[in-house]
Amino acid sequence: MPLARPVVLGNWKMNGLRADGLALAGRLDARAAHASGTLGIFPPATLVAAVAQRLARSRVLVGGQDCHPAESGAFTGSISAAMLADAGARAVIVGHSERRHGLGETDAEVKAKGEAALAAGLMVVLCIGETEAEYVAGERHAVLVRQLDGSLPSGATAERLVVAYEPVWAIGTGRTPSLAEIARTHAELRGLLAGRLADGAEVALLYGGSVKPDNAADIMAIEAVDGALVGGASLDADSFWSIYAAGGGT
Ligand code: PGA
Repeated sequence: MPLARPVVLGNWKMNGLRADGLALAGRLDARAAHASGTLGIFPPATLVAAVAQRLARSRVLVGGQDCHPAESGAFTGSISAAMLADAGARAVIVGHSERRHGLGETDAEVKAKGEAALAAGLMVVLCIGETEAEYVAGERHAVLVRQLDGSLPSGATAERLVVAYEPVWAIGTGRTPSLAEIARTHAELRGLLAGRLADGAEVALLYGGSVKPDNAADIMAIEAVDGALVGGASLDADSFWSIYAAGGGT
């Protein structure tokens, strides 16, 4: 079954100590008791187990922000998909721009991570998006095709794949593409996914990059936008819930 819409996911990034993280998760859980759509939060690795335990009976799913492609081994500091699943995670983000560009992750590595995640039974949240230089050079479409072709995990289905279009220049900057640009990009991505996966038309396609309560309704009203991947605004339960509600979530 495809994920219930809207799909609104919160990437906490490197934020949250135990007390704050559990409090935030608890506030969200209280609001989401009867949620009709899909809500997920992605705490830092140190909090995945505690937050997953706190939300064990919640409508809010918990995920990791990254995983290593290998199942286990001599990879100091890394966490495998199986470890995330063992900690209670149901999903994992792969290919976030802060890892692609900040840490030099390649499409092939992102693909391997996604495949490891699927093998461990996790849902994959695959992030793609062009840099500002690529945007200015008119390379957006080519970049997205290259990233999709290079990093879409084999064996993915709409039930366990979410694709988030996140222009790198919109992340954490307060800037977003115009609504027309988001609509055009998402329509293109919808077509690209339909051409690559049997049920590609049903894959949840999110927009990410400076989504806030005041722009969320307009962005999520776009036909091919099924939800949002939210960074900064997911650190406050009210803002995160407002974004979900703006997308039609009850
Ligand atoms: P932002 O981050 O909402 O803070 O721009 C989005 C993301 O990185 O997923």
